[in-house]
Amino acid sequence: MINATIEPSALCGPPPSAEDVVFREVQAVADFNFGEKVASVFDDMLGRSVPFYQEIQRMIAEMAADFAIDGTNLYDLGCSTGNTLLNLDASVAKGVKFIGIDYSEAMLRHCRQKLAERGLQHDHELICADLNHGVCIQNASMVLMVLTLQFVRPLYRDTLIEAILRGLNENGCLILVEKVLGEDSVFNRLFIKYYYDLKKRHGYTEMEIAKKREALENVLVPYKLLENREMLLRAGFRYVDVFFKWYNFCGIIAVK
Ligand SMILES: C[S@@+](CC[C@H](N)C(=O)[O-])C[C@H]1O[C@@H](n2cnc3c(N)ncnc32)[C@H](O)[C@@H]1O
Repeated sequence: MINATIEPSALCGPPPSAEDVVFREVQAVADFNFGEKVASVFDDMLGRSVPFYQEIQRMIAEMAADFAIDGTNLYDLGCSTGNTLLNLDASVAKGVKFIGIDYSEAMLRHCRQKLAERGLQHDHELICADLNHGVCIQNASMVLMVLTLQFVRPLYRDTLIEAILRGLNENGCLILVEKVLGEDSVFNRLFIKYYYDLKKRHGYTEMEIAKKREALENVLVPYKLLENREMLLRAGFRYVDVFFKWYNFCGIIAVK
């Protein structure tokens, strides 16, 4: 039997936005995009779609307290509505500048408003740019890509990772959180089933799940965990380790 109640982990997720009903009434499924329709319900979508989102955020803040250095920049690539930047405000040294980058004007609008409402303390800048075209990273002690590299076209991923590495200071780190494929198709099938079960527990219907899956096809292109690890080592990161894993989701930290 399906347990349709929302789990406590979802309730203590990001601050509530309007309920995500993006795929409830859609008839013809188009490619997923990060326009206003998604941006306005995005925080609800995160809390109900990303396993342990709040714990991942807590871990990132814990690591940022050690890696983000006064007088340097911290980049959040694919900053969306600003949850990660807000989450880091209390734990990161005050002399670190926050730079959020996203290609969705709608996301940045919501982000700007939320940072202002919540009174983000750190000096910060929000930039609208497409990561498929590369990125200019300077004097960075930390770069975050939380569920964003999976949306960058595979053709451009190596170049982007190399640009991030170039812009990081020695001992700086990249935090990568991604949806991943299982290393073997047997696990992949199971992991996807368990993931859809989580979405059902968080109140999504079978139809909503199926429509979103179709919309994300060719838009969200996951690698295997080991493929992500290889890409980071190939670019020249010295140390790479996994700090989070839940079925088809993982968190990786890589140090220059
Ligand atoms: C799943 S969301 C990231 C969630 C966010 N990092 C967080 O933890 O709250 C992915 C974000 O990446 C952005 N994005 C996707 N592809 C992008 C690209 N090529 N260039 C810049 N931003 C991109 C989207 O607009 C969206 O805001």
